[in-house]
Order: sequence, then structure tokens, then C-alpha cells
Amino acid sequence: MTDSKSDNRPTRALLRRRELLWLGIGALSGASAVVLGRSPQPSGQATAQSPEARSFEVSGDRSLGARAAAKGILYGAAIDRSILADDTAFTARFVQECRMLVPENSMKWRSLRPSLDTFDFNAADQVVDFATQHNLEVRGHTLVWHQSLPGWFAEEVTRQNAEQVLVNHVQTVARRYAGRIHSWDVVNEAIQPKEKQTDDFRNSPWFKLLGIDYVELAFRVAAEADPNAMLLYNDYSLDYDTDEDETKRNAVLRLLERLKSRGVPIHALGLQAHLDGQDSHQLNPVQMQRFLREVADLGLKVFVTELDVKDQTLPANVDQRDRIVAAAYEDYLSAILAEPAVIAVLTWGLSDRYSWLSEFKPREDGMPVRPLPLDDELQPKLAWNAIARAFDQAPRR
Ligand code: XIL
Repeated sequence: MTDSKSDNRPTRALLRRRELLWLGIGALSGASAVVLGRSPQPSGQATAQSPEARSFEVSGDRSLGARAAAKGILYGAAIDRSILADDTAFTARFVQECRMLVPENSMKWRSLRPSLDTFDFNAADQVVDFATQHNLEVRGHTLVWHQSLPGWFAEEVTRQNAEQVLVNHVQTVARRYAGRIHSWDVVNEAIQPKEKQTDDFRNSPWFKLLGIDYVELAFRVAAEADPNAMLLYNDYSLDYDTDEDETKRNAVLRLLERLKSRGVPIHALGLQAHLDGQDSHQLNPVQMQRFLREVADLGLKVFVTELDVKDQTLPANVDQRDRIVAAAYEDYLSAILAEPAVIAVLTWGLSDRYSWLSEFKPREDGMPVRPLPLDDELQPKLAWNAIARAFDQAPRR
């Protein structure tokens, strides 16, 4: 009977977790801790209460930007050029909440580079001008990435000209906005251990053309072109207590160590933090804090650059769903804001009216996704409260 008892254990644990998830309390860190055998009250955790039991109460009516600023943290969000032109209610709300913006697409290669020989700064200029008008800091995103490369790239960029193409791009773009950019995502998503390349690099076009040196080159050229901007390495899947994320954290740490030891001008790590409401129980605050301390010990700051919470597979019920999403925001932010090296938080959009997840992670039931702080009517959701609470409880930096 002992055998069958131990055989049953994983199944029971799994069922229990499924039940919890179905009930909408899967993100309950205390309960997952019981199931997974982790400490139920890790440090930095605001609360181990279930999403259903949490009050999400917030005092006062200050904006997210003001609450973050009171702690020495910058809060902002991604915004697209098309919104600036079309949606004045949204932009007014954006300006109330945010102290910083990041162009969601306007500074990517596909937007800036109609051809190998030309640049089109029209969209990016509009976003930067909007920021200047409204006193918002600007993050540049992103100088080097394997995605969003224009159609001509594969044909026209070769081993012979790749270095010159990279230098020319980074130099031209960073110089144009020099002095107006708070921080640049110089290199985005260069690490992907699954691809089994040198130093866990992603087998991206840049890696294929230039090997691992392209990262260092991009940082050096960016620093020369805009000596005042903070320069970041930005990546995803660094958030959870899974083998995949742990391997990636280690690989990113090794990249950062190598860059620092070679005197490369890099100032911060960007955690994209595209979280999943379904996976919140996989957050391990102690492990995250240890990782962030290691990054900070290298003399680097940390930004949360693209925060949102996927609700693709969460219950259809909007109240339940909003609670799970809000709990995921609160647990994540309270865990990582315990580390004073974290100095900026940006959500990847502000309102459910515009989220990349409606296209990239739509729900099977056809209901609109609800991953952001404001709903599609621009009203605050529990996610807004959760972020506000995390800022209010964060230590000052
Ligand atoms: C996404 C945008 O939100 C979409 O509009 C676009 O179609 C594709 O890119 N990681 C990143 C961001 O660094 O640039 C991505 O943005 C989301 C994932």
C-alpha cells in the first residue's frame, strides 16, 4: 500500500492544482507552496492570500507614475504611433498615469529601415515629440533584434557587409535621438540556450553573420553615439522557477559577466516579464531576488521592460480572471521591487484596448483579453490596484 500511496501523490497534487486553477486560485502562492513543497511565505511576497481573498485595496488617488516616483521608480508603458494620431482619450489617460514611454514598434528595424540605404524616422519622431510635449522619459526599443527585420535584410546583408550595416544602424539611430533617450534596449533576446550555440547565443541572423561579437559591438557603438543614455540588454523567460527559465537566467548572467569583464558599456538588464496568469505559482521570490542581487553585484540596474499578464487560458469569468491577473502583478512586483537595483517598470501597453496579446495570445472562447492595468474603457482594473499596491509597499531607492 505504501507504493500505491506514493504513486498517487503526484496525481493528487496535480488534481489539486487543477482544481485550484479551475477555481481561479491557482496563483495562490501559499497553496502552490503546499503542493510543490515550497516555503509558503517567501521574503518580498506582499501576501500569500489567494486572489479571491485579497482586498486589492488602494489608498488615495495618485497615478501609477506618481506612486512609483515616490519610491524612486519610473513607471511607464509602451505606446504605438497609430494610437497617438487616433485616440485622444487614450493618450490623455496615458499622460496621467505614465512618466515614461517606449515606442511599441516605431523604433524597430521594420519601421525605421525601408531599404538598406535609407532611414524613415517619421513614426519614431512622432512618438519622441509626443514624449517631449508631455514631459515623458523615452526608452528606445530596440537597436538589435532577430525579429522585425525588413524583407530586404536576408538578401542584402552578408558576412561581408554585416558589421558595417550594424554599426551604421546603431550609430545613425542612436545619434538622431541622442540626449532625448533615457535608455536604449541595445540588444534584445540574444540568448536562447535551447538553440545550443556558442555561449548559449540564439542562432539569430546577427549571430550567424557576426558570431557572438555583435553584442559587444552594438553596445560600444551605442555608447559612443549617445553617451548619456543608459544601455540595456533585454530578454524574456527570466521570471519563473522552471528549468527553462533557470537555464536562461544563468546564461544571461554569464553574458552580463563577460560584457562587464571586457569593459563593455552596459548599464542595466531588462526583464521583459511577459507573465502568464496560469503560471504564477511558478514564481519563486527568493530565487528571483538572488538572481537580481547577482545582476546588481555586477554594477547593473534592472528594468522591468514589457510587463503584462496573459489570460489566454484563465477562466472566462471576468471577475475571477481579473483577480488572477492582478495577483500575478502583485506577487511579481512585490518580489522584485524588494531589490533596490530595480529602478523602472513598464507595462507593454496601458489599457486592454490595445494589447499585442489580442493577436499573439487570443482566447479560444473569443472573449477579449484583459492583460493590462486599465480595461478597454480606460477604467482601472484590479491589475491597476495591484501595481499601485506594489509601488506603495516598495522600499525607497
Ligand atoms: C511586439 C509588439 O507588441 C507587436 O505589436 C509586434 O507585432 C511584435 O512585437 N518582445 C519584444 C517586443 O521585445 O518588441 C514585442 O513587441 C513583444 C515581445
